[in-house]
Amino acid sequence: MASPVEISFTATETAGLATREGRIAILIGESNRLPAGLPRATRDVALRALDSAGWKAVKAGGSLELAYPAGLQAEALQLISLPKKAGVAEARKAGAAIGAKLGKVETTVLADNHPQAAELALGLALRGYTFDVYKTAKSGDVSAETEGESARAHVTFMCADPEALARKAEAGAAVAEGVFFTRDLINEPANVLTTTDFADRLLAMRELGLEVEVLDEDELAKLGMRALLGVGLGSETPSKVVVMRWNGGGEEAPLALVGKGVVFDTGGISIKPAAGMEEMTMDMGGAGVVAGVMRTLALRRAKANVVGLVGLVENMPDGRAQRPGDIVKSMKGDTIEIVNTDAEGRLVLADVLWYAQKRFNPSAVIDLATLTGAVIVALGHDHAGLFSNDDPLVEALLSAAKAEGEGAWRMPLAPAYDKLIDTRLADMKNSGGRSAGSITAAQFLQRFIRKDQPWVHIDIAGVALPPGGTTLAPKGRQAGAS
Ligand code: BES
Ligand code: MN
Ligand code: ZN
Repeated sequence: MASPVEISFTATETAGLATREGRIAILIGESNRLPAGLPRATRDVALRALDSAGWKAVKAGGSLELAYPAGLQAEALQLISLPKKAGVAEARKAGAAIGAKLGKVETTVLADNHPQAAELALGLALRGYTFDVYKTAKSGDVSAETEGESARAHVTFMCADPEALARKAEAGAAVAEGVFFTRDLINEPANVLTTTDFADRLLAMRELGLEVEVLDEDELAKLGMRALLGVGLGSETPSKVVVMRWNGGGEEAPLALVGKGVVFDTGGISIKPAAGMEEMTMDMGGAGVVAGVMRTLALRRAKANVVGLVGLVENMPDGRAQRPGDIVKSMKGDTIEIVNTDAEGRLVLADVLWYAQKRFNPSAVIDLATLTGAVIVALGHDHAGLFSNDDPLVEALLSAAKAEGEGAWRMPLAPAYDKLIDTRLADMKNSGGRSAGSITAAQFLQRFIRKDQPWVHIDIAGVALPPGGTTLAPKGRQAGAS
């Protein structure tokens, strides 16, 4: 696990400010007032900065940094623009400005009694994430000196009421921990995060009070999940379905979350080109999101019934691998002609979706999958593609996404697209070709959704690893990658 940013809360104590090492961030509201207790020399340089054209161009949530400021031992003083009446998004952005600069030194945030300090802390934590598990410490690195313990920077919030702020920040901390769990899973390479290792990490969440069950290949075969099992035939790491349950909601029917967990997608016999194939370590992103959500629900002791199901497989070419032209029977009973072994995610989801509905009678089903390259052509890296048979459900999701600053855009489903996956030899084929690639994939999934079952499919292929990062996340891939 990447070590997350540690944040602690203490009472404001400005006497020792001048000799504090590391970085110091202060919040500046509309009136440009500086916090009390800054050394005289520091006040002078800060006031000069606040009078500059540079500062005037800084919007709420933005920042300006002074290096080696007069009067302070600290190496940097970050001026953060955050009015008292700032909204959640601005406060998180302000926190992210601090989180982006953390490095390996101690950071002190003078949060005083800002009403959005807890949101600021969440933004800081989310943007402060780094995955450095495989970076070895070189001699001379600061991290080499702290080997064995967390090399991550520590952050101290100085505020008016530390206990109250700590309590208020707890919900956000649970969100951050779930997000980090997801990000770690996405960043782990496939030689480490095999299906078995993935399942073990989910089993470990039993200690949080989640019920976790792992179905192995024999059990999946008994259930008739031949569509899912076909995908893993060429792999040395066994296919699995993991069921995670959080029962905090009494007798109500659960919400089912279903995730595509392809730990590596070579394309199989319909093999992908070499360039960029390494990115397919993230093809378990949907399963990663489901796992992270379940973790957060448990940490928050949520008053809801949610069941998370992930299909864990690896898509490899091999003598035993599935071929184009093969025909498989799904758990539902429908037959599928495999015309392209690289359209594997929908085969995994077909069986897990069916199983989820049959076993749990969920009030709603939401699936998440890095399903198609076509959704990247349509929406790029800023919006996930949403497909649904239920207007109120998808509208609720879209407005939740909007409130959180997460890009989501509804795409159509229609019988006309459904025809594109009909085939002469079986009930359907697993690819409808190039045109409307994301929609035909969603149409395929819909064939495994019961009549009257509210359902949303979220294609996250474009947003799982955004190349430029986002306000709240560091860069997800190398510059120059597709
Ligand atoms: N995992 C890929 C989709 C993908 C592409 C995710 C790029 C993230 C980034 C999926 O399994 C796939 O290969 N889809 C094919 C479907 C096609 C063969 C019908 C695609 O999109 O090319
Ligand atoms: Mn594929
Ligand atoms: Zn895939």
